[in-house]
Amino acid sequence: MIRFGILSDGHQGSNEAPSHPSIHEPNNPLAEELNHILFDKIIPQTGKLDALHCNGDMIDGTNYKGRGLGIWDTDIVRQVDSAEAILREFDMKKKAKMTFIEGSGYHTGNNPSGDNMLSKRFPGSTYDIDMAISFEKCRNKKDGRPFRGYFRHKVGTSKSESNRGGVLSRELAESLLTEEHYGRFDGLFFSHVHHFDTYYRRGRMVMTTPGLKTRDLFVKGLSLSWVPDIGMVVLEIPNTWERARDIHVEYWSYIPDKKNLIHEVIV
Ligand SMILES: [Fe+2]
Ligand SMILES: [Fe+2]
Repeated sequence: MIRFGILSDGHQGSNEAPSHPSIHEPNNPLAEELNHILFDKIIPQTGKLDALHCNGDMIDGTNYKGRGLGIWDTDIVRQVDSAEAILREFDMKKKAKMTFIEGSGYHTGNNPSGDNMLSKRFPGSTYDIDMAISFEKCRNKKDGRPFRGYFRHKVGTSKSESNRGGVLSRELAESLLTEEHYGRFDGLFFSHVHHFDTYYRRGRMVMTTPGLKTRDLFVKGLSLSWVPDIGMVVLEIPNTWERARDIHVEYWSYIPDKKNLIHEVIV
């Protein structure tokens, strides 16, 4: 069995996200609340991880869309320091594999990629624009192939909560159509939309992951009604599995307005 953590949209540098106190102490009540949720609740509950993946946007950069407002430091190095310190808080096995993918380019503009800089703090880790991860220990009961996931940051958004499944089913349909070329993916994992959602079809799963940052000035300015989930996902992949439904999905979702942390295991 493998415990695989997926973290995304950490947006280090933003006042609307938690930050590591060794680099930056929270400077407002919301950030304090988010720090409490991340460090005292979520991280201690994730257990020992065999692997940890960052699905993009771990760094907020210059917050170009918010014209630099709402940032505690636009220095990308300090933002990476804080992201690194957060990742080091997780309890991980000695040889835990770390993987990173690139986030939305507009955060860093023409600056170097924050997600790439972060990956370099963890020697032996892998970084790419998108990636496939095969879990060699976790074999399919019928044909012995490993569980194989596809990871990418960006995915289409939907203004209507009831249409979120539409975005996910389109991604799955595209993956099925290109299967001959890219091989079968048992799970597709996206981020960017900052909310948790999962959908199963034809033995496969498709998911969007929560983020760590809540509504910033840019989002408030657009008066989008979208409410982000603050949290992360842990997948527990058994050594033998038959279809994606056999993968235990554990997720944390905190919505500051509701002051209620949901911690749920999907079996
Ligand atoms: Fe994001
Ligand atoms: Fe993004």
